[in-house]
Amino acid sequence: MARLVSSQSPEAVADAVAVLLAGGLVAIPTETVYGLGADATQGAAVAAIFEAKGRPRFNPLICHVCDRAMAEATGVFDPVARRLADAFWPGPLTIVLPLAAESGIHPLTLGGLTTVALRMPQGIARDVIAGVGRPVAAPSANRSGKVSPTTAAHVARSLGDRIDLILDAGPAVVGLESTIVMPVPGKIVLLRAGGITADDIEAALGLAVVRPEAGAAIQSPGQLASHYAPHGQVRLDALSVRPGEWLLKFGRRAVEGEGAAAGIIDLSPAGDLREAASNLFAALTLLDRPDVAEIAVMPIPETGLGEAINDRLRRAAAPRG
Ligand code: TXA
Ligand code: MG
Repeated sequence: MARLVSSQSPEAVADAVAVLLAGGLVAIPTETVYGLGADATQGAAVAAIFEAKGRPRFNPLICHVCDRAMAEATGVFDPVARRLADAFWPGPLTIVLPLAAESGIHPLTLGGLTTVALRMPQGIARDVIAGVGRPVAAPSANRSGKVSPTTAAHVARSLGDRIDLILDAGPAVVGLESTIVMPVPGKIVLLRAGGITADDIEAALGLAVVRPEAGAAIQSPGQLASHYAPHGQVRLDALSVRPGEWLLKFGRRAVEGEGAAAGIIDLSPAGDLREAASNLFAALTLLDRPDVAEIAVMPIPETGLGEAINDRLRRAAAPRG
């Protein structure tokens, strides 16, 4: 069971920082809801978030920062983004921005996107992030499909047996997830309603806040198929390799025809789903080259993280739109 530590305890911050730096999971109170935090630069730790939540998809996660320097090292701010941060940070506003070149954020945290959702929370979360010295990825600390937790007891009930530490700071003040916005030229797109209203933002910035157009790609990044698809054809559940195909392996087991493969990438020689999850986006990026025409993918078990891995691979194999 997770250890439950009061946020008032003098050891609370150092305890959480140590767990996060070691690649563990910590439930961290924020003013909106409790988040399930991991070091956003460690792929295996981020994979463990998806595993603990039982998320069937690799949705991109919000990266939580402690200050503007960390924010600007992670996302590319334009003047509107700076004004949003000036007006609402720390607080319940998440800003989606292009990813900075040397951000260090693991691709799994971003669900393969080239944008990053940034938020500077209030309270002990900020001290924890400062101690880690890197952004902390955190979705709401509930099992997939359940409501977001506003108390430590909620977290303990749903994830207590799956995580290392829960910081208890009492009930969340806002009790509603953060508002998610994306600045685009001349206006601000509202991706998720939340703790800060569109009116608040319009009043502070003097810019229109608009809903995304129906079917717009930014509305639900996790749903996009072709965005994640490599250039070549992807063949799933391959039990043998055809000459000239690339092979995406899982586990050391030899595959028929392997010797004639154009190249081989093993997502996890040990057959470990967490490792495979953390290597997936880097592998798909590597394979996204004009000279890689066909990719055979070995079967991956549909258990635990395998569900989300297979979801993403099915999207990569889907007909291009
Ligand atoms: O208040 C909150 O936002 C809480 C606390 C813990 O910070 N977090 C939270 O995270 O609600 P989560 O994972 O439950 O929701 C994050 C949302 C998802 O809908 C995801 O698709 C969206 O943020 N998101 C993340 N990165 C994105 C991006 N680059 N572009 C568009 N949407 C993004
Ligand atoms: Mg959630």
